[in-house]
Amino acid sequence: MRITILGSAAGGGFPQWNCNCRLCDGVRLGRIRAQRRTQSSIFIAPEGGVDGVLFNASPDILEQIRSQPALQPARAIRDTAIAAVVLMDGQIDHATGLFMLRERGSPLPLWCTDPVEEDLRQGNPILRVLGHYCGVDRHRIAIDGGTFEIPGVAGLGFRAMPLSSKAAPYSPHREQSVPGDNIGMLITDRRTGRSAFYAPGLGEITPPVFDAMAGADAVLVDGTFWTDDEMIRLGLSQKTARDIGHLAQSGPGGMIEWLDRLPARTRRLLIHINNTNPILDEDSDERAVLRQHRIDVCEDGMLIQI
Ligand code: MLT
Ligand code: MN
Ligand code: ZN
Repeated sequence: MRITILGSAAGGGFPQWNCNCRLCDGVRLGRIRAQRRTQSSIFIAPEGGVDGVLFNASPDILEQIRSQPALQPARAIRDTAIAAVVLMDGQIDHATGLFMLRERGSPLPLWCTDPVEEDLRQGNPILRVLGHYCGVDRHRIAIDGGTFEIPGVAGLGFRAMPLSSKAAPYSPHREQSVPGDNIGMLITDRRTGRSAFYAPGLGEITPPVFDAMAGADAVLVDGTFWTDDEMIRLGLSQKTARDIGHLAQSGPGGMIEWLDRLPARTRRLLIHINNTNPILDEDSDERAVLRQHRIDVCEDGMLIQI
């Protein structure tokens, strides 16, 4: 399968519009070696296929599509390679780009869990608003461990699992998570048998999550924060990474330790990186630590062939 990293940053992107932290300022002024990044989204197509699935519709979607001609194959006067959109949660960085796809000539095939659909009809009624434009053809993602297929993307199989993370602030279950607020996805190319596990928001690695990761050829997992108290130390928030549903990379029980336990052949990639995370600085000690652990950091425009 072919995975295109459309946006590798967390909500806010990098640099964030109002942020003058060392990293945002550094990349803005060219003082550090770092890549600008748009908000969290990937595109996956089966080996040899044109049409694929957009995972998350970020507010940067139009810029992301413009920079990836493969997403616009131009087989008709209006055309797209996006056969369907899958949402990993109902947060702003993953869902508000749906507004930008409103010019479709037919309802947008949209796959999400029940709690995410509810949040996008009530708390942030994107789906109701879209009903005045192209509308959505909503398909329910079940979190019962079953595999499913997405019409128009022959050759890929999907399996969703509930994750411990956080619903958006406008969700009635922001503080009392329900299964399906956030999901991880195992995507398998049926022809090659190769698979990837994607989880941009991952607060806790439970045994079923680790099993899914260990069975995949590549994992693209939560790279939001380096330390649990990163935002507190910078004086930007009162909340820890855990409080907002993200497992930090460093420290005991952190993401690096989990990734170290994967089979040697597994490709390890961090995605959904917050603008405060020192790994964005390619010359940082933290980035060197990742290199020692054979962990890559996703960048916008990166192509991952699995
Ligand atoms: C998150 O995953 O915590 C988000 O990136 C928050 C946001 O979009 O504001
Ligand atoms: Mn996010
Ligand atoms: Zn910043």
